[in-house]
Amino acid sequence: MEEIDKEKLPRHIAVIMDGNGRWAKKKNRNRISGHIKGVDAVREVVTSCRELGIGVLTLYAFSMENWQRPKEEVAALMGLLKEYLVKECGEMVKNHIRLCAIGRLEDLPADVRATLEETIKKTEKCDGMILNLALSYGGRSEILHAVREIISDLRKGKIREEEIDLSSFPQYLWTKGLPDPDLLIRTSGESRISNFLLYQIAYTELYLTETLWPDFNREELLKAIADYQSRERRFGLTSEQINGL
Ligand code: FPP
Repeated sequence: MEEIDKEKLPRHIAVIMDGNGRWAKKKNRNRISGHIKGVDAVREVVTSCRELGIGVLTLYAFSMENWQRPKEEVAALMGLLKEYLVKECGEMVKNHIRLCAIGRLEDLPADVRATLEETIKKTEKCDGMILNLALSYGGRSEILHAVREIISDLRKGKIREEEIDLSSFPQYLWTKGLPDPDLLIRTSGESRISNFLLYQIAYTELYLTETLWPDFNREELLKAIADYQSRERRFGLTSEQINGL
């Protein structure tokens, strides 16, 4: 079991859950069965993060590009998402987990969107952890959306040009109000960002693992956190400055 320093936990962990398809292929099963096993991994990681005391967990559950997958796979993923929300809502409330979502939520099928909104509403007072699902999400679109909103607010006189700065800009992102991720985990051996949280990960520590998402579990999560804790985060400063030497 990995040793974790409870005083130095990442406040926000973001995860690119990759490798469901390859997991299924290795087992001679269809891709959907990989996603089904992927949902079990989601459950285990959500529970573990809550128990550890992580503040925010953002999961890249569906990218804007994922709409181009075969329609049976898209339908299966939407079905799994809806089923997860329906089944887990009670557990979320019991464990004080607040559900949030980022992305172009208007793209979701009406029934999935309704279930999502309902779960968000039912958990809105929960203050133990935020589970933030990225759905129909794309980082470039998020930035573009923010720029459009700023232009609209400028035109309405709600904001002045000189007020657009590094503290106001993030308020226009879908992640408004959330701290930037401290740790970004990507499974399945790929070393790409894939249009995820482009603005927010400027100083995020990256953890890449060969483990396929369906095999990712509590132990793997602890390994990622231990690795994060072994690093020195300098935010552009020198080691001496950080250590007060
Ligand atoms: C990547 O594996 C995974 C996805 C595109 C979807 C992730 C979705 C889930 C884990 C289930 C639904 C989510 C929730 C929150 C209930 P891949 O299919 O790209 O794998 P491959 O690269 O091996 O083909």
